[in-house]
Amino acid sequence: MRHEQEPAKIQSMFNSIARRYDFLNHFFSFNIDALWRRKTVKAVSSKAPKLILDVAAGTMDLSIAFALKFPDADVIALDFACKMLNGGLHKLKTHQIFPVNGDGLALPFADNSVDVVSIAFGIRNFENLDRGLSGFYRVLKPGGTLLILEFTPNWNPLFNFYSGVFMPFVGRMISKDPDAYHYLHRSVKAFPTAEALKNRMENAGFSTVQYKKMTMGIAALHVGEKCSE
Ligand SMILES: C[S@@+](CC[C@H](N)C(=O)[O-])C[C@H]1O[C@@H](n2cnc3c(N)ncnc32)[C@H](O)[C@@H]1O
Repeated sequence: MRHEQEPAKIQSMFNSIARRYDFLNHFFSFNIDALWRRKTVKAVSSKAPKLILDVAAGTMDLSIAFALKFPDADVIALDFACKMLNGGLHKLKTHQIFPVNGDGLALPFADNSVDVVSIAFGIRNFENLDRGLSGFYRVLKPGGTLLILEFTPNWNPLFNFYSGVFMPFVGRMISKDPDAYHYLHRSVKAFPTAEALKNRMENAGFSTVQYKKMTMGIAALHVGEKCSE
């Protein structure tokens, strides 16, 4: 485990930036993050999933997008940073979403119980990626889908200046944590490439794994299925 991936540190960092998280997210991404989340929701193959688990839900934008697309589904929005969930509560206009303060590496759900597991910009923070993937596999029903939306390592110099210099500078001024946006840059660089993540998903048992890079390869959406037995 890399020292900075310590769960307590990550949890406290997100709790401290929670109040400014939505603003900075949309500002830094020119609102493209909303488009990425829409594409994630569209990638669900099932017409009527009953239970969707959005892990590392943060301020719940992806959970809300699921609830809008699937009005008959229950959506569990799980995150270990309570203040991130609290920061999204005012956006909930439906009773379909259930915020749960919990650890994505120790999912408090039964085996084979969930139709869709999603995680957006969260898995990069896991202290153990493979343990996270195995947990997602365990709770998914056979035939269920895993969606991972995450940044991919990017070597474009312009992008590196933007994410490595500009974002930490502005992030330090606006959010309460001076290092949070530096951490974002470092953690993206240290994260597996899209192809490597696909292999890790397959090693965890997922089938038909595919990924699509988006917006000049800044982010990628991986989709995998737990095979029906
Ligand atoms: C960058 S935010 C993404 C939030 C949201 N999914 C989005 O798309 O805006 C990452 C979130 O992952 C959460 N997180 C990181 N590791 C976690 C873990 N082990 N269990 C639960 N939540 C975790 C953090 O608390 C934070 O809210």
